[in-house]
Order: sequence, then C-alpha cells, then structure tokens
Amino acid sequence: SILIVDFGSQVTQLIARRVRESGVYCEIVPFQSADAAFDRLSPKGLILSGGPASVTEENAPSAPQRFFEAGLPILGICYGQQTMCKQLGGEVVVSGEGGEFGRAFVEVKARSALFDGLWAEGERHQVWMSHGDKVTRLPQGFVPIAVSEGAPFAITADESRHFYGVQFHPEVVHTPDGAKLIANFVRHVCGLEGDWSMAGFRAAKIEEIRNQVGTGKVICGLSGGVDSSVAAVLIHEAIGDQLTCVYVDHGLMRAGESEQVVSLFRNHYNIPLVHVNAETLFLNGLAGVTDPEAKRKFIGKTFIEVFEEEAKKIGGADFLAQGTLYPDVIESVSFTGGPSVTIKSHHNVGGLPERMNMKLVEPLRELFKDEVRVLGRELGLTEAFVARHPFPGPGLAIRIPGEVTKERCDILRKADAIYLEEIRNAGLYDAIWQAFAVLLPVRTVGVMGDHRTYDSVCGLRAVTSVDGMTADVYPFDGTFLARVATRIVNEVAGINRVVYDYTSKPPGTIEWE
Ligand code: XMP
Repeated sequence: SILIVDFGSQVTQLIARRVRESGVYCEIVPFQSADAAFDRLSPKGLILSGGPASVTEENAPSAPQRFFEAGLPILGICYGQQTMCKQLGGEVVVSGEGGEFGRAFVEVKARSALFDGLWAEGERHQVWMSHGDKVTRLPQGFVPIAVSEGAPFAITADESRHFYGVQFHPEVVHTPDGAKLIANFVRHVCGLEGDWSMAGFRAAKIEEIRNQVGTGKVICGLSGGVDSSVAAVLIHEAIGDQLTCVYVDHGLMRAGESEQVVSLFRNHYNIPLVHVNAETLFLNGLAGVTDPEAKRKFIGKTFIEVFEEEAKKIGGADFLAQGTLYPDVIESVSFTGGPSVTIKSHHNVGGLPERMNMKLVEPLRELFKDEVRVLGRELGLTEAFVARHPFPGPGLAIRIPGEVTKERCDILRKADAIYLEEIRNAGLYDAIWQAFAVLLPVRTVGVMGDHRTYDSVCGLRAVTSVDGMTADVYPFDGTFLARVATRIVNEVAGINRVVYDYTSKPPGTIEWE
C-alpha cells in the first residue's frame, strides 16, 4: 500500500483517488498521526501532500524524520516537496512575487524514473501550479529534472534514494499527465501491483466496521438517497442484524420513491427497517409556512425529533451510521467558522450523535459520489437505483414555493414523474446531474377545449454539474420541452402552463428554495 501524509491541502483526497485508479490501495493520514499509521500499514511508498502552511514558519508541519531513512520511495507534492527539501537540509523561501497559480508549463531537463516512458528530455508539459513558497537550494543528492518559469525546481529528484519532489499538483485534472505520473510512481517506482479494486475496498471496510462496532448496536437514518442506502447495505453485510435502519418518511418524496426504498431493504436485502410514516406530522407543521428557510428549519428539526423518538423505541444504539461522503467532509472542515454566508440551511443530522451520545460509523468518508455508485453496484444495487439524481433532504417542500399542501405535493409528483419518464425515454437521464419539476404559486389563464382554465404554473429544471457547487442549464431541444409541456398540461389536473428555467448556478441555485 501507499501511505499519504496529509498536510491539509484541499485536494489531498484526489491523490488517493489517483492512486486507487491505478489499482493500488492507499490511506490518507493527517501528518500528526503519520507515525502510527506507518507502523500499522508497512507501506511500500509514501506521498507527502500539499498544504496551506509555509515551511518557513516556526512549528510548520513536517513528516516524521524517520520516513526519510526507511529506504522507501517518496513523492512530495508542493508543500510535501518543500518540507522534504527542508527536512533533508535544503532551503525554501517565501516567493517575493506572490507565487505561481494556475496553468503553467514545465520543461523536462533530465531523464527520471518518475516519468519513465511518459515524458522525455526537452519536452514541455502543462501542469497546475498553486504555490507561494519555493525551493531555492536542494538537499544533497537532489538534482532538478524539470523547470517552470516560476520554479527552477519544478521537479527534483534523488534517483538513488527514489525521492521525488514536484512543485505542481499532479493529482488535479488540469495536469493532463498527472494521473499517469502518480500511477508511474506507485506502480513502477514503488513496484506495487495494480490489484486494488472496489471489491477489495468492500472487504476492507467490512473488516473495519466489525472491528469498530464489536457487538454494539448501530442505527442508520435512511433518507432514501443513494449514499445512506449504500452505507446501510455495506454495514448490514458487516454486522447483520446489529443494524436497524430508520426511514423517516416525511411524505415529501417523489412518486413511488418510498415504496421503492422500503421494498429494497425489506424484501431484497432483508434488512430490519422501521418505516415511520410521518406525512401528517410534517404537512401539519408546514401549514401556512411560506418562507423557504422556515420550511427547511422545520423539516430538519422535525426529522431529528422523529428519528430520536424511534431510536428510543428500539432501545437506543451505540453507533449512528451515516452516508457522509468526502466532499461533505471537506466542506464542513473548510467552512467551519469561516465568514461564509448561509445561502440555505442544509438538511442533515449534524447535531444528533452528541445529543444521543452515539459514535459515528461513516464507511463512505473517503469516497466521491461516483465511487459510491461503483460500490453500490458492487453490492448488487440496481443501476436504476444507484444512478438516481440527487434529491434534497427537505424533499418536495422546497420545490413548492409558497404553502406546501398534500394536494400540491400530489400535483407536483405527477408532473415530475412525467418529466423524468420523458427524460429517460430520450436517453438523457445520465447526461443530466439533476432534473425536476417545481410547482409555482402563480395561476394563469388558459383555454382547454372550449373552457377557460385558471391553474398553476409548472417550472422545469435540468442542470449539469460535477459536484452541485456550480451548474449549467441542460440545453434540451425545443421539441423535447414542447412534448413534456403538452403531456403535463394534458395529464395533470391543476397545471395549465409549463416554463423552463434557464438560470445557471451561480447566480441561481439548483433548487428553487
Ligand atoms: P442548491 O439548491 O444549493 O443545491 O444549488 C445544491 C445541491 O444540493 C442539493 N440540496 C440538498 N441536499 N439537503 C440535501 O441533502 C438539503 O437540504 C439540500 N438542499 C439542496 C440540491 O438538490 C443540489 O443537488
């Protein structure tokens, strides 16, 4: 395996991803606990990540000194390169001109095992830089093997010890050959076989969950979404009926969704599932509420109350399982205490573990969304289930601007189902990040047959996105939209007009509230 020492870069997890994509197992550990992890893992190679600190500061983070005497190949990336240089006797300074950020080019000056068969002397290659400090004097044994405009030591190496330092970030997609460089390091320099797979990850996680949980009881709050479902199925495989799932059904799900989740768990997987039908509770509480934040806060708070009550009924639990993904982990770290403004109160069970005195089981913490989907397939979940579009915790309530009623939920469910059916039929579902209908609190006049109608407007939304943070409008052709509009107006009583939302994010958000 490879041990990745994390110095706090925003993209450390991408290093792990690239290593795994090359078929090699790896673990990320914060630099403070790298020593213990080293003994536990006995890695065949080390990667030192980037990070926000400056090695020129007092008490700057560093790698355990013995790592450099272990006889293992080491790849230092950005801050990792700088600390390696400093720890081995070189010199790093704060760059006077404010550093290099963004696209840059490196020129290869010498051959190196790091890019054997990939890059050759004299070639120029695009890389992604993001650094303020730079190495100014190399430690003994190191030579520069590539330069960039801003960094004479863009790549440095001590070939005899297999130590490599890169000033740029090979883990990001803007370094086009970066994944190959990392693969080359782990496969050829470290000599590891590329035999890691999602099947192996599944087996390792099952072991880990068993060790963590022992004979304890685990409770998992299902949202109906892919992440919590995959987490629950994996945990059930590890500890069987020590796991109980609680599905708090707020009645704000899409057409057929609750039935699908309940049947998947109970019938297909035989996992104990408590289905709490709390539709009335939620709808009563939402009566007269029109402010988006008030809706979100009420739903979040009520969800937690219902969940807690059910947990008490089943006799409590020692652990709370969650489908937390890596992007959730990064966001919550980097935004904690920051000056960022709350755009929307996101629905999660953040405060629950402390309130209920439970420890967390989060087996998906290292994964990205698309990797969770791969794991879901590995666990036998159907393609239709794992490939579903994201769905927000507060459900349809935030797709019905104005007051939410049972009647309006039913109208929206019908329109939404037609829209998604047409998208699937057109073969567009997987090309779209998220598509849904919204029901507007606006009534307009229409004519159907010889009658005047005075009904609601339905808005259609479809976006492409990588992570939900930014989004582009999906450019349907007019014929497709016209077909959906005709079907909705003809088939859904209560809607007599359909509009398409052409706003990207930013300035819009994906959901309407
Ligand atoms: P916005 O509307 O903020 O949405 O552009 C970005 C992504 O997040 C989803 N979303 C939520 N997901 N709980 C969730 O689990 C929430 O409260 C929530 N609000 C929005 C949204 O569907 C989109 O994918």
